[in-house]
Amino acid sequence: MEKQVVVVTGGAGYIGSHTVVALHLAGYTPVIIDNFSNSKPDVLKGIAEIIGEKPQLFELDCRSKSDMQQALENCAAIGEIAGIIHFAAYKAVGESTEKPLDYFENNIGSTASLLGAMSELGVSNLVFSSSCTVYGQPEESPVDELAPILPAESPYGYTKQACERLITDSFNSSMSLSACLLRYFNPIGAHQSAAIGELPIGHPNNLIPYLTQATAGLRGPLTVFGNDYPTDDGTCIRDYIHVMDLARAHVAAIKWLQSNEPSCEAFNLGTGQGKSVSEVIAAFEKANGISVPYAFGPRRAGDVVSIFANAEKAHQNLGWKCELSLEEALRDAWKWQQKLSKA
Ligand code: UFG
Repeated sequence: MEKQVVVVTGGAGYIGSHTVVALHLAGYTPVIIDNFSNSKPDVLKGIAEIIGEKPQLFELDCRSKSDMQQALENCAAIGEIAGIIHFAAYKAVGESTEKPLDYFENNIGSTASLLGAMSELGVSNLVFSSSCTVYGQPEESPVDELAPILPAESPYGYTKQACERLITDSFNSSMSLSACLLRYFNPIGAHQSAAIGELPIGHPNNLIPYLTQATAGLRGPLTVFGNDYPTDDGTCIRDYIHVMDLARAHVAAIKWLQSNEPSCEAFNLGTGQGKSVSEVIAAFEKANGISVPYAFGPRRAGDVVSIFANAEKAHQNLGWKCELSLEEALRDAWKWQQKLSKA
């Protein structure tokens, strides 16, 4: 049988690399397109440790439509392109407020080039890496996909909204396209083997990489951004999802696109459980038998008080739901940090 290729832009990144593993396990042939702008080629070795072979890679900048077109032609020579998963994007909320032009150019530009290349080659199935950031400050949680798209809190958030719009408009045009817009909540953890995980370059902005680095003694104590929010313990609430559960959702989305009439649908990907920052710290300490050095500090600008998912639509349509617990995610995150600390 001809190989079923899934093209993964940004496949050397955090969620991309875990998705490459999940695709391989599901019988697909993942092919990575990445320019290592926020990842390292060593990730491929980590993937190979798990799946037994290095995935094929095309190193290029997704903003170039002609390079993308050439890469897709090369992918089509490997096997039938079952779909494309588009992760490649800049993703630091704070940085996006300092460099909005870079974010607009890279995130929206690469999505436009990809859609153009797909159209030229007649590739129809697209899974887009979006974020719950498209909901802005929601009035209440859990949020479902019908919640209004509120003004973005950052240029990064705006690029996710704009790309969703671009894909939706392309679907509504004469272009032959079928798309899943996957809105992630807070992905954490690492592959259970600790062969791959999150590799923040420089100062980590997100909670778990900072927490694990602080616990490993590589950074000063974690600052909990605000303990005077209107929540039970005063800290912000999020929906933390194990990255391998998230990775499996991408496989489910590709299968769904392959077996359904063309459509363009958004799906929330989360556990449905809101956890406060203080609860996450306590769960990490319990799961790993180690104490986290931390102190309460001022609020961080732009933080949403509370957001967690109603992921029922993904469950109903994609047949997907989370299987791994917060404790497992926190154990895997710590295992990965310990491996990095030893390296
Ligand atoms: N936090 C701390 N200290 C830190 C880092 C984070 O207390 O050093 C807190 C934040 O205030 C927040 C929670 O931990 O309450 C989670 O923060 P993250 O930065 O890990 O994640 P966010 O929810 O802010 O951001 C995530 C994604 C973004 C996405 C956003 C949408 O990282 O890409 O969700 O809400 F845009």
